[in-house]
Amino acid sequence: MLIDEIRSDFTQLQSDIANGPILPTVTAEEIRTYLASRYDFNQTLPLEEVIADVEKMLRTWQVQVTHPRYFGLFNPSVTFASVVADTLVAMYNSQLANWRTSPAANEIERHTLGWLAAKFGLPRNSVATFTSGGTEANLSAVVVALTRAFPGYGEDGLRHLDAAPSIYLTAEAHHGYNKIAHMAGLGRKALRIIATDSDLKMDLSELRRQVAEDRKNGFAPFMVIGTAGTTGAGVIDPLPELAQFCREAGLWLHVDAAWGGSAILAPTLKHYLAGIESADSITCDAHKWLSVPMGCGMFFCRHPETVAETFRADVSYMPGKKQGPVFDPFTTSAQWSRRFIGLKLFMALAQQGESGYAAMLEHQTRMGHVLRDALRASGWRIVNSTPLPLVCFTREGLVPPNFLAALHQRQIAWMSEARVGDIHVVRACITSFNTTEEDIHWVVGEMNRLAATEFATSTKDVEQYVTQAR
Ligand SMILES: Cc1ncc(COP(=O)(O)O)c(C=O)c1O
Repeated sequence: MLIDEIRSDFTQLQSDIANGPILPTVTAEEIRTYLASRYDFNQTLPLEEVIADVEKMLRTWQVQVTHPRYFGLFNPSVTFASVVADTLVAMYNSQLANWRTSPAANEIERHTLGWLAAKFGLPRNSVATFTSGGTEANLSAVVVALTRAFPGYGEDGLRHLDAAPSIYLTAEAHHGYNKIAHMAGLGRKALRIIATDSDLKMDLSELRRQVAEDRKNGFAPFMVIGTAGTTGAGVIDPLPELAQFCREAGLWLHVDAAWGGSAILAPTLKHYLAGIESADSITCDAHKWLSVPMGCGMFFCRHPETVAETFRADVSYMPGKKQGPVFDPFTTSAQWSRRFIGLKLFMALAQQGESGYAAMLEHQTRMGHVLRDALRASGWRIVNSTPLPLVCFTREGLVPPNFLAALHQRQIAWMSEARVGDIHVVRACITSFNTTEEDIHWVVGEMNRLAATEFATSTKDVEQYVTQAR
């Protein structure tokens, strides 16, 4: 059967990637010259040849984020069911802008999002949509929150407001909010950075103080962003306290759980997300810890009427709205034409079930603990505090960029550099469900050896080191 052939290709690819290099060594010039020499688009090529060539380029000229030793930036290994789903989506090219055109696809998305909304503890009448990613979901949250706080914003714009709206978040929050503040017309200065405690969580007393001060000075605070699983260090802000403060102060609470939100399906982790059920809106990306291909963000909101007001659109050229309890996504979300984003999550959930997902998330969490323990046992210092599988670490004299350059050059693992407080550290996140204890012990062994060399602690220019290593 065709599905067996595709599965066998997928398994072979996973194995080839796991046994091959993690990082490419290629320059932009090499790729450009190659493309220019082969693809002038004047002559036709057999599809088989194009496929083979594209696969060769992807195998050799990219960081293999599905490699079990890619400890990276929330780019997961992907499940077979979700890959098949994305292929079906492309084949049928479903258009989800309105319900009438794609009833099945729209209801599959609604069913999947409703199930997850209930897991988060949101009320039954909450609304949710799939987004291109976390940034679109976060942008939606800001625009919907503005619409609720300032009824004139939608028609007259921000310039008609009496006071400048402000948003509260920590320096650990995702930096996409700078772009969002810019795009929404708030201006980047509308972001008020609240200090963190020693664990990098938002400091409640600082939040309270800043909001009071801003109100006194004529600003209009309207939104607090709590992160559940920060990008750099995996920290979860104090959600119950933030929820209570926002209730008292009349502020919108958005929980950015782009990566960490998936922990709601992990029995040993979900209690760390307590408080998320009180959020006004939530971002959670299935293309991060739910291991489906990009992009598969999700935006959840407990205020359906404000979402409808924000994205309303009345046009004659779209197929008419179907009567009954259905909605047309082009009037309830930022996108107009809409790809069938949610099928990959639906099919992966249907195949693995909640228990399969729980096992996958728990496995990765356990691998995070194995990594932490192995590093500690070899004298590394762990500098972040989180139950999620993201470890930031360093050791005496280590120069992270040089250490990482050597690590990458030797194809040991892919990790990144992060700043925790004032310290520059190495950041490793377990993003693949295929990572094993054996992988981790091998990597830590190699890192121990590397840390003992001059490269790891040298202050020599990284480029110099890489050239020398070649
Ligand atoms: C906490 C958080 N929010 C938002 C985003 C942005 O998500 P995306 O890259 O899908 O737009 C990220 C990305 O890593 C993130 O870590």
